[in-house]
Amino acid sequence: MTSSFLVRAAALAAILCAGAILVSYQPTSAASAPRPLASFDPQVKPLVARMTLDEKIGQMTQPEQDGLEDPADLENLSIGSVLSGGSSDPKEGNSLKAWTDLYDRIQEHSRKARLKIPILYGIDAVHGHNNVLNAVIFPHDIGLGCTRNAALVERAARVTAEEVRATGIQWVFAPCVTVPQDIRWGRTYEGYSEDPQVVSELGEAAVRGFQGSDLANPLSVVACAKHFVGDGGTAHGSSKAGNDQGDTRVDEATLRRIHLQGYLTAVKAGVGTIMPSYSSWNGVKCSASKRLLTEILKQELGFQGFLISDYNAIDQIDPDYKKAIGISINAGMDMGMVPKRYREFIADLKALVKEGTVPMARIDDAVTRILRVKFAMGMMDPKRSPMADRGLWKSFGSAEHRVVAREAVRQSVVLLKNRNKVLPISKSAARIHVAGKSADDIGNQCGGWTIDWQGKSGNVTTGGTTLLAAMRNAVSKNTRVTYSADGTGGAGATLGVAVIGEKPYAEGMGDRADLALAPEDVAVVNNLKSAGIPVVVVLFSGRPLILGGVLDKVEGFVAAWLPGTEGAGLTDVLFGDYQPTGKLSYAWPRNMAQVALHRGDKGYDPLFPLGYGLGY
Ligand code: BGC
Ligand code: BGC
Repeated sequence: MTSSFLVRAAALAAILCAGAILVSYQPTSAASAPRPLASFDPQVKPLVARMTLDEKIGQMTQPEQDGLEDPADLENLSIGSVLSGGSSDPKEGNSLKAWTDLYDRIQEHSRKARLKIPILYGIDAVHGHNNVLNAVIFPHDIGLGCTRNAALVERAARVTAEEVRATGIQWVFAPCVTVPQDIRWGRTYEGYSEDPQVVSELGEAAVRGFQGSDLANPLSVVACAKHFVGDGGTAHGSSKAGNDQGDTRVDEATLRRIHLQGYLTAVKAGVGTIMPSYSSWNGVKCSASKRLLTEILKQELGFQGFLISDYNAIDQIDPDYKKAIGISINAGMDMGMVPKRYREFIADLKALVKEGTVPMARIDDAVTRILRVKFAMGMMDPKRSPMADRGLWKSFGSAEHRVVAREAVRQSVVLLKNRNKVLPISKSAARIHVAGKSADDIGNQCGGWTIDWQGKSGNVTTGGTTLLAAMRNAVSKNTRVTYSADGTGGAGATLGVAVIGEKPYAEGMGDRADLALAPEDVAVVNNLKSAGIPVVVVLFSGRPLILGGVLDKVEGFVAAWLPGTEGAGLTDVLFGDYQPTGKLSYAWPRNMAQVALHRGDKGYDPLFPLGYGLGY
């Protein structure tokens, strides 16, 4: 009674001060531990007792919104959750309205089901609400890792939560608490650091930011720590792509020391959901491992939320789909992310229960865990509408939100070289010649997981500022900022700025055996140099790249990672309004032979060590 009153009072208070949330937002201290999810069991158990087997299995099933064979399946099969994966757009496009309408359209169906249990809608908001046009796009986690600033990461997650809630969606597949050990992996940028300590601090902060001090706050979303466990430790060559979804060949002590660390703190912070990895540990798929999912995560770590399988990950366990489902659910998987095969998943799981392969107790445990989260979020409160709160639209992509992202950008930038104090650039320099394919390209600046799953070069979103545009805004009115894509035309300029790097990619599509700078990028630098002017390189990349001779040729070098939409955070540093403070969250190798070496390994001698970063 009292506690549910308090929850409601807190929710009301949150609604009342939604407008002022950022100004008043205080990072939650580690001391204010969230309410344990299992404390909702007195409300959950009576509901579970009223549910049919079909209704229980429906709660455990998560189709893709664009994989639904018939929208009425949502009520007819009592579906508990829906997702939008990468590039799973509303058919009306990616506007804020289209996304909110899609959410409401889906949620409407839950009201037609017998028990009217609201649908939990999940999405990859991994650097802001990145599927939606005009959302604030934050630096990818590799950049946030270089800030080493937990309070800032928490604020960024809070802003993202608010933008996600503006579309009605209540669940983010973030933070990624991977600890990448091999930068050839295409998901390196999704990890804060190769250092487990940094990952565990920042991952915990992100969970607190997403979930707030109370999941029932209408501005909170439930977080998902992923991908459990060892996704960043796969041996090169152990998968088709190279590293992605491969096999992590380490002993248990190493798995715990490196890859488990982020889960210890995420669970402590009360993370509501965790996503088991596609990858394997010593040949066993994580999504099939009872040792990992049940014994370590649920029993030993005391995780009380629920496990969501990765996209079609169950299919990879065994060619016999029904057998694969049985193995995964019995290992401890609670909800299947089954984009298109959801009808089959439901029928097979039901048959597995009927024939006794999956015990009823396992089903009840899974449903209990899922409903704990729904109760904790206030979703089961009949007085609370499950529909989107369009009142939140006013802060979506707002100037206040962009300020937080700009702060994240400037703290993420790492200054690697500054010969003759070429930086900061004077705002009254006569002429700055900017060059390179990424100088005026918001798509390259944001990277993968931006509007599209893979991201894309070009004008992918609205509301952002490219680095070139930010430079033009920053300089004095007597300063000329000129631009050429290939770096020609620099003669007579005070300075050349080459903005180069990787084009967008996501997941295995970004696995690379060779991380050398692209020849076209090297040519840009050479062209600027041949004009006889000092040159600064700004590199947009999802990981350290092999610089070859380029570093020696130039006066200044800045690693800007994948900073997102707020290009002004970069100019804050380039023009000296902000002293660079970013520190490398991955060591920077000299050549490919050094790529998978770490502190303590023989021959470890990186170009720049972990933690490196200059100031002015
Ligand atoms: C990725 C996850 C993501 C999921 C849903 C998978 O391919 O591995 O990180 O959350 O898809 O889009
Ligand atoms: C991604 C999904 C994406 C799908 C496309 C998955 O691996 O995570 O989000 O929509 O592939 O095939």
